[in-house]
Amino acid sequence: MSLDIVILAAGQGTRMRSALPKVLHPVAGKSMLGHVIDIARELKPQGIHVVIGHGADAVRERLAADDLNFVMQAEQLGTGHAVAQALSALTSDRVLILYGDVPLIEKSTLERLLQKVNDQQLGLLTVTLDDPTGYGRIVRTAAGQVEAIVEHKDASEAQRLINEGNTGILAVPATKLGDWLGRLSNSNAQGEYYLTDVIAMAVADGLVVATEQPLDAMEVQGANDRRQLAELERHYQLRAARALMAQGVTLRDPARFDQRGEVTVGRDVMIDINVILEGKVLIEDNVEIGANCIIKNSTLRKGAIVKANSHLEGAEVGEGADCGPFARLRPGAVLGAKAHVGNFVELKNAVLGEGAKAGHLSYLGDAEIGARTNIGAGTITCNYDGVNKHRTVMGEDVFVGSNTSLVAPLNLGDRVTTGAGSVVTSDVPVDNLAVGRGKQRNIEGWKRPTKK
Ligand code: UD1
Ligand code: CA
Repeated sequence: MSLDIVILAAGQGTRMRSALPKVLHPVAGKSMLGHVIDIARELKPQGIHVVIGHGADAVRERLAADDLNFVMQAEQLGTGHAVAQALSALTSDRVLILYGDVPLIEKSTLERLLQKVNDQQLGLLTVTLDDPTGYGRIVRTAAGQVEAIVEHKDASEAQRLINEGNTGILAVPATKLGDWLGRLSNSNAQGEYYLTDVIAMAVADGLVVATEQPLDAMEVQGANDRRQLAELERHYQLRAARALMAQGVTLRDPARFDQRGEVTVGRDVMIDINVILEGKVLIEDNVEIGANCIIKNSTLRKGAIVKANSHLEGAEVGEGADCGPFARLRPGAVLGAKAHVGNFVELKNAVLGEGAKAGHLSYLGDAEIGARTNIGAGTITCNYDGVNKHRTVMGEDVFVGSNTSLVAPLNLGDRVTTGAGSVVTSDVPVDNLAVGRGKQRNIEGWKRPTKK
């Protein structure tokens, strides 16, 4: 059976107290609506229809994609009215309703729900709660058949004692949906067109309402304020941490770890506290990451060591190579196998060959550095002339003296040595020593000035 998915995302989210539309607030670095859209995509539906209203332009701009149909709901007249806005675009025989502010829903839960829906039956996701205040209540017959959903504000005292709540997530046969939505009325406590009233109509039409529950109630938790947003974030992070541990990663403290993207890991990886992994990160076997590192869109090869307080973005640390503490590897930084970068070294678009070293206090930008070359402390590439960037290329076994300024474009041949403190402005042939600094003179008998 074919499937259309409608995602409701038109509400204001007043309690966020934010200029940003609620559904754009991030969980694990991705907007809540972005999470829901990605889950929807995994179900491979015929269409994904996102109902937007408040902050519609911002939402569309942030999330626009070829496979998304944005539907405008100019006035938020209720969840039933919201779904009705998407009706004319639906072409499948099943419709699944999701919510842009309920980001942790799992694919497996939705698959179970979708198995329940057919011509004669709809699937309703419910959740049993200790405190169902605010939720629509699932009203069942004595025999246990669902007959209606009553919103909290419309419920009687007796109905409020029901602790089975409506998650809002619903899978319905498409044939009748238009008819049901067309018959909704807004004569209720909130003056809204309730999607939930569809349940009683379906029962009256002789359909069966089959229910499913999520494995974990957090899957269906929405975020109405920043406190709930933080709860979703922590839950997501704990789930991510557990998934990594299950794959053979030691997390010194799973409560002090954050993943904001896709992480691929090998075995026997060690991650110390307060590490943030962002974007696409590949971590091979036996890698060690020290405390307080931020690693974004990077690759750490087998046995690499990233020491505490290092910041990597768009970088690669080769097999057995190490960097930090306090290393900054910017986009295009590549450390070859067994290369070493020490504290306060910044690399940008720079490749360090196998076994090359830059131990302390350097800036290496737009550079290619050969195997086993040693970069002395305080060395910088002067790669920018104020208008253009230029490259510095070094051969193998070069020894760059401390505090050398390498004025690019520049080539240093194999086994070149530069004197400490040199400003090197022209190419140096293989095996040469380059000294580019004022010659030292000593002044005999010189007296320091004295106070007048
Ligand atoms: C809804 C359900 C309730 C359920 C609860 C779970 C209805 C009538 N009630 O109540 O049974 O227990 O969710 O959280 O459906 N939205 C729109 N356009 C609108 C109205 C809402 O896009 O016109 C979106 C909102 O942005 C929100 C979602 O739909 O993401 C739910 O709307 P909300 O008004 O918060 O419904 P609840 O009162 O929470
Ligand atoms: Ca709500």
